[in-house]
Amino acid sequence: MPNILLVGNGAREHALAEAISRSEQKPLLFSFMKTNNPGIASLSEKIKLGSYADLEAITGFAAENKITFAVIGPEDPLNNGIVDALAKIGIPAVGPTKSLARLETSKSFTRNLVSKYNIPGNPQFKVFKEIDGVEAFLDQLEGIVIKPDGLTGGKGVLVQGDHFSTKQEALNLCKQILAESSSLIVEEKFDGEEFSLQCLCDGKTVVGTPLVQDHKRRFEGDKGPNTGGMGSYSLPDHSMPFLKPKDLEDGLEITRQVAAALWKETGSLYKGVMYGGFIATKNGVKLLEYNARFGDPEAMNILPLLKTDFVEICRHIIAGTLDKLKIEFEPKATVCKYVVPKGYGLPADHPDAASSRAKIEVGDVGKARLYYSSVDKKEDGLYLSSSRAIGIVGIANTLEKACKIAEEGVKAVSGPVAYRTDIGTDALIQKRIDHMKKIRKE
Ligand code: GLY
Repeated sequence: MPNILLVGNGAREHALAEAISRSEQKPLLFSFMKTNNPGIASLSEKIKLGSYADLEAITGFAAENKITFAVIGPEDPLNNGIVDALAKIGIPAVGPTKSLARLETSKSFTRNLVSKYNIPGNPQFKVFKEIDGVEAFLDQLEGIVIKPDGLTGGKGVLVQGDHFSTKQEALNLCKQILAESSSLIVEEKFDGEEFSLQCLCDGKTVVGTPLVQDHKRRFEGDKGPNTGGMGSYSLPDHSMPFLKPKDLEDGLEITRQVAAALWKETGSLYKGVMYGGFIATKNGVKLLEYNARFGDPEAMNILPLLKTDFVEICRHIIAGTLDKLKIEFEPKATVCKYVVPKGYGLPADHPDAASSRAKIEVGDVGKARLYYSSVDKKEDGLYLSSSRAIGIVGIANTLEKACKIAEEGVKAVSGPVAYRTDIGTDALIQKRIDHMKKIRKE
């Protein structure tokens, strides 16, 4: 009976807590959270609230509860070195060390690694520490992407056409970023359809999980500001309707080569999740970025479909024996719709911004699964924060049914909240298919 430490307080971690709790190994769950997620708390033997920067508090909680191994949900504790700190007291983890988490925390590290080991998928790119040379490189690109070289909560990437129009604006933005951070990356912009490939990795073996498509924009029709992700879907065949089989193979192959390169480069084995943000283009699959953790919302699409015991998967990741385990997922469709405060992603002076911190009620979500995210359970009820509140997931044999289940579930949440009605609908998915056909000139 393992004692498992879970670090994190979002809907992704609620889905992880549920996957752990389903295990036949009857684990006891000990959760370290920034705020009190009632879903995780209800599945935990014990919880502790604190900061992810307070490594002593986390390791102390782990030691006190005789933890067998830890599962780290979000990127912040990885970036703070929690896996290294736990290793020092003899506790292994599913999650990379601080150095290996650079796969996510340093965009330049990953771009340079991919180039150095001749792995396909990189765009034209250059890393800049000062503004000299930026203008000349901008002149070489047809479309521009600017990325600060650090953690940005998924919202720091600036894309031409979405966040700025002209090269002069791009140059000004680069100057602003360099005034605040030590380096940035300028990249070629790709046209295509994005997908998330979350892989499990024990350092040597890379195992793909069902593909998911996230929706970053706040409003219907992919309009409005970028968010952490408003919802996502996956299909019973575990692929995406706009991809060719080779696209999935290419994404997997890139990830296998990156895992091998990490081993060669650092001499350490990457144990955890390598979540590749890929884009299918007219020239094949390209790499947008890696994250060193499960996606949020994407974790909610794949973890509930696991047929294999998640605790067993964790044990194999830690032991370096993933090649010995058959990992299976239900052949079902999933649709996740995030319920967010009405003011989520909007400027502080917007009339809806006041919705944050309001009280909400959650009724019967019917056949849907409910995963709490940034909500705070107080004595008199459940309160919103400024971030995404609740992930509602429909699971069924068809996308249409999964979408209907999620849609009905969302209606059970009342208060000043919003969600995207179009996620998982045939109309939006057809738009993706048509877009790819146009790009491929089919
Ligand atoms: N789905 C976006 C992320 O997890 O970063």
